[in-house]
Amino acid sequence: MTSPYRPGLVFCEMVKMDALIRHDPGTYRLLDYDTSMHPIGAQLCGSQPAYAGPCAKIIEELGFDLIDLNCGCPVDKVTKDNSGSGLLKHPHLIGEIVSNMVAAVNIPVTVKIRAGWDEQSINGPQITQIAEQAGAKIIFVHGRTRKQAYRGPANWDYIKDCKQAAREIKVFGNGDILDAQSGEKMFTDTECDGLLLSRGLFGHPWLIEDILRHFQGQEPIQRCQEDIRNALLTHLDYILKYQKERKAILDLRRIGSWYLKKGQGIKKLKEIVVRAQNLDQVVAEIHSFDWGDLC
Ligand SMILES: Cc1cc2nc3c(=O)[nH]c(=O)nc-3n(C[C@H](O)[C@H](O)[C@H](O)COP(=O)(O)O)c2cc1C
Repeated sequence: MTSPYRPGLVFCEMVKMDALIRHDPGTYRLLDYDTSMHPIGAQLCGSQPAYAGPCAKIIEELGFDLIDLNCGCPVDKVTKDNSGSGLLKHPHLIGEIVSNMVAAVNIPVTVKIRAGWDEQSINGPQITQIAEQAGAKIIFVHGRTRKQAYRGPANWDYIKDCKQAAREIKVFGNGDILDAQSGEKMFTDTECDGLLLSRGLFGHPWLIEDILRHFQGQEPIQRCQEDIRNALLTHLDYILKYQKERKAILDLRRIGSWYLKKGQGIKKLKEIVVRAQNLDQVVAEIHSFDWGDLC
């Protein structure tokens, strides 16, 4: 069964090249996917060009449709060895890593960046050109700096600058696409070639469909409480494919808040999760939960 939410492409969580190359079982677990999820990309995180080719090969052999290099993760323990957004400080390394990946595989290689390390060192356009010369097919540009982490608005001018620097490589805009209107605005403001959605999908998996409908001149479908409840239960089912029951129930506190408006709703849902003894009870409680005007 393909996803009812109509994504053009989805990604697995990023994995570290050094863990993949030593065949760490936990890393393979993160790369586990269902064939119904095609087309699906894997994302590699690391800064050692020598690992890039062999890791890309592993990803290709696992059946992925695309490999992305992460140059965006802002977390200190990732950037300290120049991985993730740490690579933004070493654009030549990005070129080397991408070249090695491209040489090793037949599937497309892409790059995900932030606009720069901080406001004083914006280098997205330079990296766009380096990625293009190294053979990358798409660059996903998150319009925030590493220093911003996930705070404050994304600056879409940085995405536009990357698009202007690109010749063949496709530029996808990312950051603050929360509804169909902002999806359209990303295209018109930046002239980008595609959209990458992230937090806008949390608790609203219909965002892609809203955007697709918008481009066909249609209003978004109004989702009722039952739709939201069912989407939450489906989400729980997916989590259960990968997590033990107790962990999945605890995870519900986090994902439940995405589906409910802040305030009363999530407090009540958390109480249910804390009280529940087992999964059947949680599911039964979610069914009988008075979603009323909470979502
Ligand atoms: C919980 C969470 C996990 C993320 N994981 C990844 C990741 O594995 N790889 C990646 O490139 N970006 C990751 N991101 C960043 C998003 O892809 C995206 O660039 C960022 O959230 C900005 O887009 P938004 O404003 O639409 O959320 C993550 C973001 C969040 C909030």
